[in-house]
Amino acid sequence: MKITNICCIGAGYVGGPTMAVIAKKNPHIKVTIVDINQTRIDAWNSTDLSKLPIYEPGLADIVKETRNKNLFFSTAIDSAIDGAEMIFISVNTPTKTYGKGKGMAADLKYVELCARNIAEVAKNDKIVVEKSTLPVRTAEAIKSILDNTGSNVKFNVLSNPEFLAEGTAIQDLLKPDRVLIGGESAKAIESLAQIYASWVPENRILRTNVWSSELSKLTANAFLAQRISSINAISELCEKTEANVDEVAKAIGMDSRIGPKFLKSSVGFGGSCFQKDILNLVYIARSYNLQAVADYWEQVIILNNHQKQRFANNIINTLYNTVSGKKIGFLGWAFKKNTNDTRESAAIYVADYLLNEQACIAVYDPKVSHDKIQADLNYLNTRSADENNNLIHASKTPLDALKDAHAVAIMTEWDEFTTYDWKKIYQSMKKPAFIFDGRNILNKTEMENIGFTYTSIGQK
Ligand code: UDX
Ligand code: ADP
Repeated sequence: MKITNICCIGAGYVGGPTMAVIAKKNPHIKVTIVDINQTRIDAWNSTDLSKLPIYEPGLADIVKETRNKNLFFSTAIDSAIDGAEMIFISVNTPTKTYGKGKGMAADLKYVELCARNIAEVAKNDKIVVEKSTLPVRTAEAIKSILDNTGSNVKFNVLSNPEFLAEGTAIQDLLKPDRVLIGGESAKAIESLAQIYASWVPENRILRTNVWSSELSKLTANAFLAQRISSINAISELCEKTEANVDEVAKAIGMDSRIGPKFLKSSVGFGGSCFQKDILNLVYIARSYNLQAVADYWEQVIILNNHQKQRFANNIINTLYNTVSGKKIGFLGWAFKKNTNDTRESAAIYVADYLLNEQACIAVYDPKVSHDKIQADLNYLNTRSADENNNLIHASKTPLDALKDAHAVAIMTEWDEFTTYDWKKIYQSMKKPAFIFDGRNILNKTEMENIGFTYTSIGQK
């Protein structure tokens, strides 16, 4: 089927950038991104490009180039579904917070609602592409819903997992290591492959069966997260033995079988994917009674939680066993640099531990607002919204966040943090002034020469 009209349901971190790039590279295809969230769609349509709902380097330029030419943002979901030959599902699939599989399984209600919506509206044959990260065998459930509507419409379901990483989404989309398409119908697979072939070399477009495609996505994220937990486990050993984790990472990364990427020790990984996908993997393994497999992968999460807790405990212990009433300045709240996304950010959990100890936290993040920080903490339900509001606030400048603080905690590796006038910061802080570098981005000797007591991850 030659595709001229695409609909993408879900205008989020996955749907927005992916469709923007598809539209840019396929000017002959009309791409409509729909969402139930009117505010989000209005933001995507904003004439002021700094108001787009998602911050990704390079995204605003592509939106500027394509929007209202062949890229459209709308809340008219039904008409967009009706008009499209191919429909991408890019809605959120959070971890369940209720019922069976609570805290483990993916909540598929949004995906199911989309499938039902498509089934209701479609009048002619459609290719439905799962783009959201989903547990293996979800395509089967989608197909079952689509095929049991009583209409004569024929649906082909493809799995086309997204491997983009936030902060580098546009580069990842423009030059993907691979594009993976899983499906049963060779014709449907080729329709999608043709769209990517506009800019992706043919040998990077992989075709697999639908289950392999779904499981590859979970496995890729699990392997990446496992590397971080592995190096973080070593970081704790380094702190006891005077080895230096960055030196160890460099030494092992030069082994071409291991490779240098994803070996940066940190306060713990965050983001919407790693934890959710591993929990999913663990849940699926348990549901097939594969206890050893489930326990193996669960350790990646356990170690990550341990790393966050350990970082917070270290702050408390170092500050003479109490942070009560002390100001701690956080640099960074996003789960990594170059994104405004805070989902599962280590900063949220470290802040929560410190607030339990009655610390006062001031946060500076170049892209995250006060309201977002409050919402992230309120979501944990550890204390009332009023209490959170009293104990933690966002500062407009780094100096405001760090003035009169007892300690700085670096939570995100934003480049600008390394360029600050640290002498000036030192002068404005309470003494002794402590730095807890959760990203190992500052130079220990330089900081100690200024007068700071500097602690980083995996270095004594
Ligand atoms: C990840 C996958 O990389 C991507 O392929 C998938 O599509 C979605 O999930 P993302 O969550 O956007 O992407 O970010 P990623 O760069 O993978 O980082 C995840 C977390 O790990 C961040 O908190 C990051 O700071 C942390 N990290 C990453 C480390 O602590 N050390 C590293 O060496 C690399
Ligand atoms: P992701 O990181 O997977 O892209 P986001 O939360 O950023 O997740 O985006 C998912 C988007 O999907 C949200 O904007 C949400 O409003 C939208 N969404 C969820 N369910 C539906 C639905 N049934 N129809 C349309 N949009 C939906």
